[in-house]
Amino acid sequence: MKSVGVVGIIFLALIRASISNQWEFPDDFQFGTATSAYQVEGGWNADGKGVSVWDRLTQTPGFVTDGSNGTVACDSYHKWEEDVQMIKNLNTDYYRFSLSWTRIFPNGFANGINQPGVDYYNNLIDELIANGIEPIVTLFHWDTPDIFSALGGFYTPTFIDLFANYARTAFDLYGDRVKRWITFNEPKVLCQDYSEFMGMINEYYPNGIIEYLCSHHMIKAHVKAFRIYDLEFRLRQRGRVGITLNFEWSEPASDSPEDVVAAEQRRQFEFGLYANPVVYGNYPQIVIDRVAERSKLEGFPQSRLPKFSLLEQINNRGTYDFLGLNHYNSWLVKATEEVPIGKPSVQNDIGTSRHVDPGWEDTEWDGKVAPWGLRNSLIWLKKTYRDPEILITECGYPDKTGTLEDDRRISFLQQYLNATLQAIYEDKVNVKGFTAWSLMDNFEWGQGYTVKFGLYFVDFNSPDRTRTPKKSAEYFRSVIESRRV
Ligand code: GAL
Repeated sequence: MKSVGVVGIIFLALIRASISNQWEFPDDFQFGTATSAYQVEGGWNADGKGVSVWDRLTQTPGFVTDGSNGTVACDSYHKWEEDVQMIKNLNTDYYRFSLSWTRIFPNGFANGINQPGVDYYNNLIDELIANGIEPIVTLFHWDTPDIFSALGGFYTPTFIDLFANYARTAFDLYGDRVKRWITFNEPKVLCQDYSEFMGMINEYYPNGIIEYLCSHHMIKAHVKAFRIYDLEFRLRQRGRVGITLNFEWSEPASDSPEDVVAAEQRRQFEFGLYANPVVYGNYPQIVIDRVAERSKLEGFPQSRLPKFSLLEQINNRGTYDFLGLNHYNSWLVKATEEVPIGKPSVQNDIGTSRHVDPGWEDTEWDGKVAPWGLRNSLIWLKKTYRDPEILITECGYPDKTGTLEDDRRISFLQQYLNATLQAIYEDKVNVKGFTAWSLMDNFEWGQGYTVKFGLYFVDFNSPDRTRTPKKSAEYFRSVIESRRV
């Protein structure tokens, strides 16, 4: 951990003192923590589990910074009862976790269910409920069955039905007890930032074509799963289905009309690309227009952005009961000259440039502490999507050491929770919950175990993966108890 020093401590104390304690979280506002299957479970081939892309990719030298993998991770496959007690100690209302597709269907396909895998989640769900904690289940948090790589992963429409069948099975197996579902976690990160997670990517499939195909199929898969829930389960299970999208807030770098337009353009490409179809049926107009225009100049006979037919648009519309928001970072966005026509790329379609203000407080990894970015994101969602119900499904602070004395995480949480209160009371945003990422330190994808987000420390050197609460766990519990930051 970077040394905070005396000046830093005084600075943090001043920030805290300046945070108003005037508001209480409303009675129906909930708190939770989150994890995902590959990041915590381990048991990568236990009891018949099949291989996911992450089981394979982490074997590629250089793929993960510290050469590590999630083979054991936090060993939650064996330590789920202890996990539930940790959650209970925090006193949160719910726990957001994801299902590992290949634990349920080892080959990905819906014809060979693996009962021990099914039972793992049955046990976890039952234990949560027995302890008064609502399970919120993400169906897909990046661990695609590896066998789909050969089919082209999300780049092929085949994926839509594969996902729909898996979703139906999950609703069927667990929907008597699970009342909130999230279809996908952060499609943008998968499709735009880390497309290699999906398998099958090489120089012959330029970014700017496959990213849009991936998004398109993921949206269609989400819609299909949502409609399956509507038709086959909603009446008897009375649950709710949403999608989790990540939003790095884009603030105009200046008041100039060009920068204001540039920031909005970026928001529409990064968030609207996914949210607009789900809310209104189709892609945002600015995205449709820009990709069509650049595709034409690049010599394509049609836009690189796939089209939704009219019927599909009607079917897409309103396929959410709530919107899940993951928020970590904020940027200042500037207008730039149009990027010259060349190799197709989403970044060139987006155009604009972004930077951070060096004066903003650093986190200890990627990104800055900018709580106003969360508040602005919430206000924008309210305005842009007709006041949806919003669940903050992830927000959290990274450090490198996992220190138990994590005052900077506490300060971060305090500021972001306060921004949430401002959004509720001053901006009248319909935000219903805050989920701290993460319950415990875990496998942070390409960063392995070098970056930690947990309220609980996990000793990855101990075979028992011993968990210890950090100071932030105590803080989070006190917020939940007092309902004040
Ligand atoms: C999110 C992701 C999580 C976690 C978090 C912290 O993008 O959904 O799985 O890794 O970032 O970086």
